[in-house]
Formats: sequence, C-alpha cells, structure tokens
Amino acid sequence: MNRGAFLTVEGLEGAGKSSSINIISEVLSHKNIPYICTREPGGTLLGEHVRKTLLSKSQEPMQPMTELLLMFACRAEHITRVIEPQLSDGKWVVCDRFTDSSFAYQGGGRGLNFSVIHSLETLTLPKIRPDHTFILDVPVAEGLRRASRRGESDRFEQEDINFFERARKVFLDRSRANKAYSVVDASNSEGQVQTDIKKYLESFIKSFK
Ligand code: TYD
Repeated sequence: MNRGAFLTVEGLEGAGKSSSINIISEVLSHKNIPYICTREPGGTLLGEHVRKTLLSKSQEPMQPMTELLLMFACRAEHITRVIEPQLSDGKWVVCDRFTDSSFAYQGGGRGLNFSVIHSLETLTLPKIRPDHTFILDVPVAEGLRRASRRGESDRFEQEDINFFERARKVFLDRSRANKAYSVVDASNSEGQVQTDIKKYLESFIKSFK
C-alpha cells in the first residue's frame, strides 16, 4: 500500500485555517483520497489536555522553554500514535499547525534559539516532515481583527502586535527556503483563497507518488 501524504496548514490567528482545511477536505473527498484531519497542539487525549493548559490564561506565567517542550511533548505523542500509523496505513493526514508554528511562535515570537527547536525536531521526529505546507499569510492587524470577532482570546492571542509580526516573518522566511510550501494570500476574499488552495493542492496531488 502507498504511504499517505502529510499536509500541514499554518498561519497567524485569524488567517482562516479552518475554512482552508474544509476546502482541502472537500478536494480530497472528491478525489476519493482517504484522509484524516487533526491539529496541534492536540490530536491525542494527552495532547488535548496539554492544549487546554497551553491556551488557558488562568495560570501562572509559563517559561518560553516550558511552552516549547510541551508543544514537542504533544507532538511526539501525536506522531507516534496518530500521524505515522495513519500515513503508513495509506491515509493522508491534514494537520492544523505543526513544527512551523513552533519556529514561528516559540522561535520568532518568544525569541528562543532556532537551533534548540531544530534539535527537538530531530529528536522527536527523526523521519517525518510535512510533504506539503500551506502558509496562510495575512497582515497581523487584519488577522487579529478577525480573531477578535471569534470571542474570548486565548493566552497567545493576548500577545502584542510585534510578537505576531516576528511569527509572520518566520513563516514567510521558512516558506522561501523550501519548495514544499505554498504561500496563500489570506487577505484576499474567501473565494480567492479557496481557489488558490485548490490550485496548489491539485498540483501537489499530481506530483505526489
Ligand atoms: P489555534 O490553532 O490558532 O487554535 P484556534 O484557531 O482554536 O485559536 O491555537 C493554537 C495556538 O497554539 C496558536 O496561538 C499557536 C500556538 N502554537 C504554538 O505557539 N506553537 C506550536 O508549536 C503550535 C502547534 C501552536
């Protein structure tokens, strides 16, 4: 059986990851490609518990390194128990955020050393890397405006605009260095964003063996 493809969707708050994942799901269903959708932090029982702690505001301040290690602890569990078994079983995996978010938020946003994040990446995921990553790029102010309409903010959404500017820059820098990324201008209309995602996804599907 052919191994499935691992797709990740990244972007700042309010970039429209959920609607993009819906479009990706529609395209895969339409093509009869078996897939699962999952998310980080989360995707396992343990991951979802830790997610609550990571996003909750009602706690003592968290050290950036603790935050990074918790992200990777969830990821180690997620890869071993969900992502790798599904891919080996021939299913495609669509993941809402992955390691790029750690580089963007804990590296760019919190200022942790990128080499530490690389080491954790090598340690926890020696083999698995996304086959394709969609970066939904949106100006920070616009993303935060959209996110604020969704209701109460989480611990990350309380950060200032400079935190998100640094995170956005890391997403864009990483996408420039690698062909396995598509950058979608998420400030466009929803219809245009959907068209762009479909175009990039269809071209990836054709190229994936
Ligand atoms: P998010 O996926 O944006 O969920 P929602 O759309 O429900 O708000 O929230 C997860 C938060 O976790 C987001 O602010 C980014 C952050 N995050 C990191 O800081 N590092 C990581 O490695 C991951 C996966 C997420």
